[in-house]
Order: sequence, then structure tokens, then C-alpha cells
Amino acid sequence: MSPLLPVDWRVEPLQKSHGREAFSCGHVALDRYLQQQARQDAQSQVAAVFVAVKPQDSTVLGFYSLSAASIDAADLPPDLVKKLPRYPHLPVTLLGRLAIDLPYKGQGLGQFLLLDALYRSLQAAAAIAAMAVVVDAKDAAAVAFYKRYGFMQLSASKGRMFLPMKTVAALFGFQSR
Ligand SMILES: CC(C)(COP(=O)(O)OP(=O)(O)OC[C@H]1O[C@@H](n2cnc3c(N)ncnc32)[C@H](O)[C@@H]1OP(=O)(O)O)[C@@H](O)C(=O)NCCC(=O)NCCS
Repeated sequence: MSPLLPVDWRVEPLQKSHGREAFSCGHVALDRYLQQQARQDAQSQVAAVFVAVKPQDSTVLGFYSLSAASIDAADLPPDLVKKLPRYPHLPVTLLGRLAIDLPYKGQGLGQFLLLDALYRSLQAAAAIAAMAVVVDAKDAAAVAFYKRYGFMQLSASKGRMFLPMKTVAALFGFQSR
């Protein structure tokens, strides 16, 4: 398959009309989520689900989901906690799922969707605060992917990782408030 240019991708909220029956990312649970659960989660406002498509083609090439969440302050590195107000729980944005259809892997779409999710999280945090973006990495490959972008592991679980919102702001050239 010839590589697509990023300009060929559009990100939009998941709709009923999006083709997702053939979506396969290598993780059955993620495929099933997109095919069977994601619309219901979006309708119930449990998760906001966004998909990447090509112009004039509703087939889902990749997707991610965002939700409000909180983490225990005790799970953050001590040097970071020291700089924060002493609350036991802290608000974060959860990037619950991110997956790319197998034929489109390795073409930059994962990075494109991750950056889209981070930028969307940063914008939302200006109105409803979140001090980090948290992800649940499914396996060692996902951990390695997120580490490339500066995500660090939370101490409580091997799969849960976080990126401070200040780092996200700096990534997009914004000064922290
Ligand atoms: C992880 C995943 C989202 C990456 O998507 P992708 O479109 O293949 O990634 P990209 O092509 O955008 O890669 C961006 C960069 O990350 C690197 N990369 C991709 N997967 C990586 C991995 N598992 N470990 C380390 N680096 C990785 C690429 O080499 C590329 O680096 P470069 O810019 O130096 O060339 C995709 O493989 C996937 O859907 N995996 C299954 C689901 C999953 O594990 N999701 C995450 C946890 S929910």
C-alpha cells in the first residue's frame, strides 16, 4: 500500500456512518471496542471517540478515545508531587484507546492521532483542568511507542503512563500558565 500524506487524513468524531467492520489493529479487544462499544460510549458520554478517515471515504483507518479521569497523587514521581498542591487525587485526561488499522501502520498515522489527541486534551484543559494525559499501554510495544513522546510510567501499574499537561503545552509551543 502506498504511504498516505498526513494531508490525506481527517479526524472526526465517530459517527454511525463510519465503516469499522473490517478494522483490525492486531488487538482483538481494541477492534471489538471500535465495532461494538465505541458508539454507545460516545452516546453515553463515557468516552469521546475520534476516528481518522480519508476525504470522501468513511472507512476508519485509526481511532482514539478521550475521557475525564483522576489519578492518585501518590502514584506520581515524588519530585513532581512536591510542586503540586496537596490533593490526594488529581484530574487528568485519559487517552483510553489508540489504534491503527494494520495496513496503515508505520505511515505516521499513530503519531498524527496521538498529537491530535494531545492537542485536543490541551485545549479542553484550558476550560476544565487536567494536569496530565494518561494512557493505558496494552503491551511492551505500546509502552515503547508512548515513551518516544515523553510518557512516563505511573508507579501503581506497569501499563498506565502519563505526560504532564505542561509538557504537552510546551510540545505545541505554549508557555505554561
Ligand atoms: C502503537 C500504534 C498506535 C503505532 O501506530 P503507527 O501508525 O504504526 O505509528 P507511526 O507510524 O505513527 O510511528 C511513529 C513513530 O513511532 C515509532 N513506533 C511505532 N510503533 C512503535 C513501537 N511499538 N515502539 C517504538 N516505536 C514505535 C515509529 O517507528 C515512528 O518513528 P519515526 O518517526 O522515527 O519513524 C499502532 O502500532 C497500533 O495500533 N498498535 C496496536 C494498538 C496499541 O497498542 N495501541 C496503543 C495502546 S492502547
